[in-house]
Amino acid sequence: MSKSIAIDGPAGAGKSTIAKKVSLILGFIYLDTGAMYRAVALKAINSNIAPKSQKDLAEMMENIDITISHENNTQKIFLDGVDVSEAIRTAEVSVGASNVAVFKEVRLKLVDLQRKIACSKDVVMDGRDIGSYVLPNANLKIFLTASVDERAKRRYDELVQKGQKVNFEEVRADMIYRDNNDSSRTFAPLVKVADAIVVDSTFLTIDDVVEKILYFYNEYSNDK
Ligand code: CDP
Repeated sequence: MSKSIAIDGPAGAGKSTIAKKVSLILGFIYLDTGAMYRAVALKAINSNIAPKSQKDLAEMMENIDITISHENNTQKIFLDGVDVSEAIRTAEVSVGASNVAVFKEVRLKLVDLQRKIACSKDVVMDGRDIGSYVLPNANLKIFLTASVDERAKRRYDELVQKGQKVNFEEVRADMIYRDNNDSSRTFAPLVKVADAIVVDSTFLTIDDVVEKILYFYNEYSNDK
């Protein structure tokens, strides 16, 4: 039976950085499920489909091809055969991802892919609904959070470093919009499930958080 660690939490809490490091240390693969919702949003944007148009999105999902590859612990995501790993990291795609992620037609297809990957490999999977919906039997569930100001600052710095022109207040507002959207949707919302351990990273370094999660895995993983 393959092993899994679920890391959920709001936007910009550091889930992907932490999940990548933890997976490398444990020899698991890292699966960034947000990238899949971003790829769907990118396709919708490129096809001029309004992110809130459920019918058009449902049709689009019938013909979408999303594949994931892992090399040197780095995930690449392909949309209809094209590597979009970088193209999905824009503010427009972030908000679009949160809008398309509301729809069951979008989620079910991606969840299916996520579960198939977790079935055959040991994974650290990050997202919003991993512990609550995708992998309810995960060996360890973490709810990773941080204050909204700290999360906005981290995301702003990351985008600036990539050379994108961004405004701090807009990054912060997008984040609040997405958190509300993700927490209030009816199907598989962002929630802290009862058996998840909360880690607040506001005043912690990346290495502190990684250390905590490894400790929790060694102590509390339900496969031991
Ligand atoms: O990295 P960041 O926290 O900014 O976001 P992400 O993990 O790349 O996810 C982008 C968007 O996809 C989120 O705002 C969610 O709306 C959606 N998402 C989701 O609904 N379920 C997941 N398991 C992962 C992401």
